[in-house]
Amino acid sequence: MAGPRGSSGKRAGASAPTGSDPSEVMGGGRLMTVRVKTAKKRTVSSTLWLQRQLNDPYVIEAKRRGYRSRAAFKLEQLDDKFHLLAKGGRIVDLGCAPGGWCQIAVDRVGPKGKVVGIDYLEMEPVEGAQTIQLDFLDPTAPDILKQMLSGLADVVLSDMAAPTTGHTQTDHLRVMGLAEVAYEFAAEVLAPGGAFVAKVFQGGTERSLLDRLKKDFALVRHAKPPASRTDSAEVYVVATGFRGRK
Ligand SMILES: C[S@@+](CC[C@H](N)C(=O)[O-])C[C@H]1O[C@@H](n2cnc3c(N)ncnc32)[C@H](O)[C@@H]1O
Repeated sequence: MAGPRGSSGKRAGASAPTGSDPSEVMGGGRLMTVRVKTAKKRTVSSTLWLQRQLNDPYVIEAKRRGYRSRAAFKLEQLDDKFHLLAKGGRIVDLGCAPGGWCQIAVDRVGPKGKVVGIDYLEMEPVEGAQTIQLDFLDPTAPDILKQMLSGLADVVLSDMAAPTTGHTQTDHLRVMGLAEVAYEFAAEVLAPGGAFVAKVFQGGTERSLLDRLKKDFALVRHAKPPASRTDSAEVYVVATGFRGRK
């Protein structure tokens, strides 16, 4: 998969980042490493986090392009590889705040497409997308999303992740739980030929979900887009060619 591209699908700069090395070349210029001094109230880990953010080429490029999140590049890269977001496509974005994936989806499906999103966090509206602030696990959420869609979806995306606890197993179970609930919904709204993308953890998708996806889709793959940090355990399951509702 390539590095950051323009929203038109064209390469934005001369060289693309290859990892998280902050000094790598991007947009044709060499980036200076920003060092953050520890302030009295700042812990070492938050100083390191801030330093990584300030030097992260994807963060810098996201800011330059007006993307809400560096995560926007993950969807861009997944779409470049798997061709999920066709013009006129109908997309559901689960866990959409602050809106980076919505921005990419709106751009790629164009004015004839439709993008609906849900997140329990408040977010600024994304032009061209319809979003709602609600917990996806709320029993009313699926019907509300279906009303917003008013028809079937071509792609259901889930980048949902609960705040991490630091306990790997707990975090893993939570992400997998969200992916499973996301697929329960996707199986109800996807049009034949549709696609499902969900954040899971390294080691792959839970066996029961994976078996189900393999039965329901023509192709099931796992991908870690370059914009996904190498020290993060996240990967995405990408299922394409939905065989239709049973
Ligand atoms: C990694 S962020 C998504 C970033 C987004 N793809 C973007 O590009 O801006 C994960 C999001 O999932 C949301 N989330 C987690 N659990 C959720 C739930 N049960 N219902 C709705 N949103 C949820 C979080 O609030 C968070 O905003």
